[in-house]
Amino acid sequence: MKKYLVAFVIALFPLASFAAGEGPKLDHMAVDLHNQASLQRGMQVFVNNCLGCHSAQYQRYQRAAEDLGMPINLVEENLLLGDQKVGEQMTNAMFKEDGASWFGTPPPDLTLEARLRGPDWIYTYLRSFYKDESRPWGVNNTVFPDVGMPNVLEYLQGEQVNHCTPEEALHHEVKIDPLTGKAMGGCMTIAQAGQQTTAEFDKTIYDLVNFMAYIGEPSKLDSHRIGTNVLIFLFLFFFVAYALKKEYWKDVH
Ligand code: HEC
Repeated sequence: MKKYLVAFVIALFPLASFAAGEGPKLDHMAVDLHNQASLQRGMQVFVNNCLGCHSAQYQRYQRAAEDLGMPINLVEENLLLGDQKVGEQMTNAMFKEDGASWFGTPPPDLTLEARLRGPDWIYTYLRSFYKDESRPWGVNNTVFPDVGMPNVLEYLQGEQVNHCTPEEALHHEVKIDPLTGKAMGGCMTIAQAGQQTTAEFDKTIYDLVNFMAYIGEPSKLDSHRIGTNVLIFLFLFFFVAYALKKEYWKDVH
């Protein structure tokens, strides 16, 4: 028994070392694939703001529309770019070489991004652009230093300024005002307001990343549904099996 316990404790060690990885603090977001309204809003933000540069080439519009409960004709009217068809993949017309020469790095395909980096990383990244005149697009990012992507959502978020050096940011404690529950004295402040308040913008990014988590694993929705049905079946089958067992053993006793 003791041996098993020791083996179990040792097996936990690699997890502990992963968890302690260095890097900027990430804000947590709980992905909710059952929140269709959020996923639908996320898809809209994604198509309108990201698809110009990034593709999601392993995802088809139609599949997304069906999974997220969106009428096909609405998707056709509002979300398709140019002469795309609803059965096509979510691609764009940018050539890799052009992307590389415009941004330094071509914008990567984002279908599997949420599985690669994790939702928390993307959620924090998209909210961590700040003004930096020394960069080609006038912005830098605390999660992805010297990033080649412009802050395309600045019109919503506003212009953000960073008051901390990277070292300070790493150890910075955000204090919460006990009266209002709002964060005080964080590293970032909004210098010039955008179309949304900070809370609204956080929600927009939440919806967007929720959608990105969905396209990373679209069959997860199916597995949840099938899993529930299987459990219901097993529950009901238990009674049938039990009744059958009783019937068989009746004569033995
Ligand atoms: C104007 C073009 C452009 C638009 C629009 C754009 N991006 Fe980017 N994005 C880039 C480029 C270029 C990179 C690569 C940056 C680098 O490697 O330095 C990038 C990188 C990223 C990365 C990090 C990829 C990695 O390395 O893991 C994520 C995540 C991302 N973009 C998400 C988005 C989302 C979400 C949107 C829509 C809100 C969006 N981008 C809109 C150009 C763009």
